[in-house]
Amino acid sequence: MALTVSRSSRLFLVVVISISFLSAQSSSPQKAPQPWMNAGLSPDERAGLVLKEMTLDEKITLLHGTGHEGLGPMSPLSSGSNGGAGYVVGIPRLGIPGIQMSDAAYGVRASGKNGRYSTALPCNLAAAASWDLEGAYEYGALIGRELRAQGFNMSLGGGVNLTREARNGRNFEYLGEDPILAGKLVGQFIKGTQDQHVLGDIKHYALNNQESGRNAVNVNIDERSMRETDLLAFEIGIRDGNPAGVMCSYNRVDRDYACDNKYLLTDVLRTQWKFPGFVLSDWGAAHSVAKASAVGMDHEQPNEYFYGDALKKAVESHQVPLSEVDDHVRRILRSMFATRVIDDPPQKSVVDVMSGFEISQHIAEEGMVLLKNERQQLPLDASRLKSIAVIGGHADVGMMSGGGSAQVDPPGGNAIMPPGKGATIWGAPVWFPTSPLKAIRRKAPGAKVEYDPGTDLNAAAALARRSDVAIVFAWRWEIEGKDSKSLSLPDDQDDLVAKVAQANTNTIVVLETGNPVEMPWAGQVSAILEAWFAGSRGEKALANILFGDVNPSAKLPITFPRTEADLPHKSIVQPPPGTEPAAGDPDAWKKRLEGLPAFETHYDEGLKVGYKWYDAEKQSVLFPFGYGLSYTTYEYSGLRVTPGEHVKVSFTVKNTGNRAGTEIAQVYAGLPASAGEPPKRLVGWSRVKLNPGESKEVTIDIEPLFLSVFQPQQHAWKKLSGDYSIMVGSSSESLPLRDTISLK
Ligand code: BGC
Repeated sequence: MALTVSRSSRLFLVVVISISFLSAQSSSPQKAPQPWMNAGLSPDERAGLVLKEMTLDEKITLLHGTGHEGLGPMSPLSSGSNGGAGYVVGIPRLGIPGIQMSDAAYGVRASGKNGRYSTALPCNLAAAASWDLEGAYEYGALIGRELRAQGFNMSLGGGVNLTREARNGRNFEYLGEDPILAGKLVGQFIKGTQDQHVLGDIKHYALNNQESGRNAVNVNIDERSMRETDLLAFEIGIRDGNPAGVMCSYNRVDRDYACDNKYLLTDVLRTQWKFPGFVLSDWGAAHSVAKASAVGMDHEQPNEYFYGDALKKAVESHQVPLSEVDDHVRRILRSMFATRVIDDPPQKSVVDVMSGFEISQHIAEEGMVLLKNERQQLPLDASRLKSIAVIGGHADVGMMSGGGSAQVDPPGGNAIMPPGKGATIWGAPVWFPTSPLKAIRRKAPGAKVEYDPGTDLNAAAALARRSDVAIVFAWRWEIEGKDSKSLSLPDDQDDLVAKVAQANTNTIVVLETGNPVEMPWAGQVSAILEAWFAGSRGEKALANILFGDVNPSAKLPITFPRTEADLPHKSIVQPPPGTEPAAGDPDAWKKRLEGLPAFETHYDEGLKVGYKWYDAEKQSVLFPFGYGLSYTTYEYSGLRVTPGEHVKVSFTVKNTGNRAGTEIAQVYAGLPASAGEPPKRLVGWSRVKLNPGESKEVTIDIEPLFLSVFQPQQHAWKKLSGDYSIMVGSSSESLPLRDTISLK
């Protein structure tokens, strides 16, 4: 029906609209826009303008969280939380929104609990194995998008503690053992997240390298060693990523808790690195009012034990100068303006599930490391296989994920939690419902693909014996708050692999671990693939690699030693009995905040973290840092090193096999003897994509910082003069191109 409006009714409409417009104008006079909403001003100017308007109570509101279940009392204001680990109340009067923080290591946490959906990316360590800076950016950007879609404006991801201790239960959340690789990757990860207008974070600052007794341990390490190892990863990550937040860690360093630590927070972070953002405590890692405020802890999470009334009283009694509080607030506000969370607040919307799958699968394919491939066992040729045995690791229903505050809830539920599919529970391993068995069946429709759970070794061996090839899935779960007791696979899985390998010479082992593991059976199997915790599309990525649709290219970001006895520390120092509050103690949270008795750990391996240790100790390893096989082969030639402020290293890589592939070409440097450094360090790399027979010349520009040593007397980095050896190749132990240059 056509709508016709007569001339008289048109006139009537015009009159009604005009009257309502005029009355709307007169009843609510237009407010002048708040001057700090002028996006033409700098974040610091805008923060300064807001600060001038704020009362002391409003300032203090921004300096603490509103509680977290199990970690002390909840503020009634926590009802405004979006369901994340932290919530900071905003100042609506001034147009300052609250801060909705969510853990987001390999995806947005607690989505299931909140009735939402999140993509699980492969764990951070898997992403590090890609050595892919663009991939790291995509990883962070995906997390940023999904945080926003779920209503969060701050990420608590960005873990970059180095793998100094290979049994640390959180290594899967971190980026390996090399400070330059980890620092460059975390910088891109943060950038990706913040470009989505979400406050980014880097954590846990610093030297939180063991989970055992993390609330009490005192780390002893010399200044140069800390600056050239763990702190260098933070230095690069903060410089490249410019995160809004730095999370200070639970442990002590040189007697003071990290969140009370003048050296870490004032001398290094604020003074030397000129960090403009804010320091937030890890959840329950704050320990004081005046001391923390003076050294530069800007914000307490998850509650207000120190930075609520106690801080207000301290300001009123002049124990804490108001200027310090202003500085904390200004840092928070300027970060909110700089990341545009005020100009462009998140809008809840539907997460793009399909693009999440795609990115997750791509990163998994780039991150799975082929460790052994004898007789070209892989890739499997489906047309030639009549039977495949799939054994162990719950490979019929799912793949392992990493736990703790990094845990992403699996859509569809935990694949194996009794009595069936269930929710995510802290302390219970979660298996994503991504079935390798089904993915393998899809790739080999003509073969009989049978599954054996691996619980009865004889039954597993019998299946392996009657199959053309056996694929054993071995796993080790990891979770925050705990370190592994050893480097071994749990639950007699070593016996299972050995028994299957005895029954079938074509045995492939797929590892789902977040750390290196010992492999006493490594010599008996034909292929080993490290799949890590592979995320939402792990099974597809895995099948694509097993059957050759994807040529593996990843390289280890951590060393796999032969045995636990080869690690720098024979065991992890444990807290003496009575250090931690007893299980179930309702005041445990308070006792931790007030400070537990310290116990000592000595990181006397110093500079020798990861491969630098095995190199210096001349100890052979199972699989070295930087190592990973491909289905093709590469040849290196034509090294040219040009000295200068930025040393330039050029060389040629050729694909000498018959498949296209990506080689991660690595450059290491040996410093002048006077430097007193371990034999070599990674100083650059390039991912080189090559078709069969193709060659490319690669040039890598080495940053001066990467060739420098830290001089504690001068509190500065220095590139020493002398002879530097430059080594190029496919891993830290395969470096066919070498040259020596002299630098002034
Ligand atoms: C972890 C942090 C995490 C926080 C909030 C702490 O236990 O150490 O990494 O961001 O909890 O969940």
